Amino acid sequence: MRRRDGAKQLSSFLYNSPERDINGVTTTRPMFDSYPQLSGALPWLPLADLPTPVEPVSGIGSNAWIKRDDLSHAVYGGNKLRKLEFILADVLARGKTHVITFGATGTNHGVATAMLCQQLGLRCTVLLFEQPPSTTVRDNLARMRHFGAALQFCGSLANTVRHYYLHPKRLSHRHYFLFAGGSNVAGTMGFINAAFELRQQIDTSQCPLPSQIFVPVGSSATLAGLTVGAALAGIESDIIGIRVAPSHLGIIPTCTPATVNQLIRQTCAALTKADLSLPTMPTAKLIDSYYGDGYGVATKAGSSATEKFAECGITLDQTYTAKAAAAFLDAARQSTEVKLYWHTFNSRPVNRGIPSR
Ligand SMILES: Cc1ncc(COP(=O)(O)O)c(C=O)c1O
Repeated sequence: MRRRDGAKQLSSFLYNSPERDINGVTTTRPMFDSYPQLSGALPWLPLADLPTPVEPVSGIGSNAWIKRDDLSHAVYGGNKLRKLEFILADVLARGKTHVITFGATGTNHGVATAMLCQQLGLRCTVLLFEQPPSTTVRDNLARMRHFGAALQFCGSLANTVRHYYLHPKRLSHRHYFLFAGGSNVAGTMGFINAAFELRQQIDTSQCPLPSQIFVPVGSSATLAGLTVGAALAGIESDIIGIRVAPSHLGIIPTCTPATVNQLIRQTCAALTKADLSLPTMPTAKLIDSYYGDGYGVATKAGSSATEKFAECGITLDQTYTAKAAAAFLDAARQSTEVKLYWHTFNSRPVNRGIPSR
């Protein structure tokens, strides 16, 4: 009961105008400044601490830059916060009260979703599949429990996906089914906005225009959103996705250029409905060669990138960011052009928001 009231109360914070005033703080998002027609069409909630800083990575080279999405929230940052600003607004706009999602046992998406659902008075269930054990896995399970998520361990990825699609609450009008990683059209909007944020930082000389931008790719909305956003915001950089998840589940493609491009097409269709069309549909660039032996399995290149970044005070994880950072380091060493690494992993310590374990 308390939850439903909370959701109802918070739905009054669902904004469809570019200017928002929360507790005396005015917030906006650069995508709405550039395309005001979107503000009336896309529900959005100010849940993340944006803009995130963009900085040189001094220990790597004068051409190496980093976008600090690890700082996107005071308690738990990372790339999911940007997506959830749009997703959870969509949840409330549709009158849903319970989010059901899935991910690996160390899912960063599960933590961010559980944290913000708790903040908004929504229920959250996370279906989990096994991944190799690591500190991140242990910490994230503790975080999801702390943020009140109901956890269901489903075994293999295939079992978990089956459970997600055949879930008994599929037809319930109170439940919102959220694809792994928050990669639906609403989530992709968060990374379109991220590209506009970078555009503003370039325009105000906070960083140079990079020739290439590197991001890890799991469920795809980060790469899809940045690719569309860069085209809309006039950022000419190559947006390069580093695949860190299996390309196929059986014969079903799960992380391929085609799957990312499908999300791009769906997102562009939603933008067209909001009266914003791109002259040509951008397409995703995805590199496979840093994946190694599997999802969550450390690679040699990833481990050496982790050591290098640690010297610069940046913590990487072995599943996502180590592999993308390895590609970035190779590119930065091979050319003097400016390269940007988009850091997607939370850097807030585990005890932030968690009193004791
Ligand atoms: C730390 C981190 N980086 C990158 C990604 C990949 O982002 P996406 O799922 O949007 O491809 C994820 C999520 O799955 C993540 O948790």
